[in-house]
Amino acid sequence: MNFCTPTIKKGSRPVSEAFAALAAKAELDRADLVKLLSAKALDEIEAVRAEAERVLLAHCGEGVYLRGLVEASNACASDCLYCGIRKSNRDVNRYTLSLEDILSCARQCADMGYGSMVLQSGERADRKFLGLVEEAVLRIRDETRSEKQPDGLGITLCIGQQSYETYQRLYEAGAHRYLLRIESTNPKLFAQMHPADQTFQSRIDCLKMLRQIGYQVGTGVMIGLPGQTLEDLADDILFFDTLDIDMIGMGPFIPHPGTPMGDLPCPDVAERVRLALLMIAVARLKLKDVNIAATTALQALDPVGREKGLRAGANIIMPQMSPTDVRADYQLYPGKPCIEENATDCQSCLNMRIEFAGRKIGLYAWGDSAHARKRQNG
Ligand code: 5AD
Repeated sequence: MNFCTPTIKKGSRPVSEAFAALAAKAELDRADLVKLLSAKALDEIEAVRAEAERVLLAHCGEGVYLRGLVEASNACASDCLYCGIRKSNRDVNRYTLSLEDILSCARQCADMGYGSMVLQSGERADRKFLGLVEEAVLRIRDETRSEKQPDGLGITLCIGQQSYETYQRLYEAGAHRYLLRIESTNPKLFAQMHPADQTFQSRIDCLKMLRQIGYQVGTGVMIGLPGQTLEDLADDILFFDTLDIDMIGMGPFIPHPGTPMGDLPCPDVAERVRLALLMIAVARLKLKDVNIAATTALQALDPVGREKGLRAGANIIMPQMSPTDVRADYQLYPGKPCIEENATDCQSCLNMRIEFAGRKIGLYAWGDSAHARKRQNG
């Protein structure tokens, strides 16, 4: 294993002095990012990881914040070439949760002390679904208020590209964070992976609209895509910086056999995990105070992938909160973990994993990024 397992004592691994010095440099330029992402030997990787962990603790503290993930619908109007729930995958059993189901997942999040939740779905812009999301946001904010969380659960939306008016309405309803991944900032790679109606420019326009409206904005990329270079990944990090984003969710690409990208050649599993962990660490070094998620895709490829993500500089985990009977129908990629568990199983497993990583769980708090707080305070 390349990255420290959580049980290994701090400082017990050798560290490359050259990589440690580079990782600690004040202003990392593109060439520095590429060099750091090229770390291969154990002592090089450990140098990058250890500095990223130090930067994380200095800028964000030791708290790991939770966003209960509720997969509201797997219906999708888009045909992204990598995604298991793409419109033309006929093997998917399509579902949409009812308002009551969504509210009950939200109440469960609130009862377990998860300070906020993410409502995610396929790309859907139909009025019926958007009406459901708006109603859900209004009711969640209202019905999850408690003594411990007087403002109710924080709500992040992840429902794809929408119009300015829709983003605005959902913000006014009470959603305050939005995740929209750019997937790759290399326009050529982006175009190869998406249908003609999903353009690179329209994603960027959406990210800018979200910021203008007042959302805390998150984006991210897939790592280890066919044809992706270290320079592309360095550019992804520079893009996060230029757009002044607040949150990052990124993970390894996992080929899905029911998609056109299912059998294209890509780096092997160990290589994609190594790169995904390095991307977390190097993004942390460059951006310092943003929230970075240790994503489920990491855990799909490595049983302790999320703990390794935390140790590499991540501070957010998104526990599965969808009803157990729909979890298997929301498979963006094969090998998704936690399909058979329920919310309580996930809670005890997570507590243990976070403690193993030597960190503290942040309960009953929205856990906004230090970056967003600074911007909002002027
Ligand atoms: N491998 C890894 N991540 C994927 N996603 C979709 N399909 C895959 C896949 N095959 C990610 C995309 C999307 C997010 C919700 O899931 O980055 O934005």
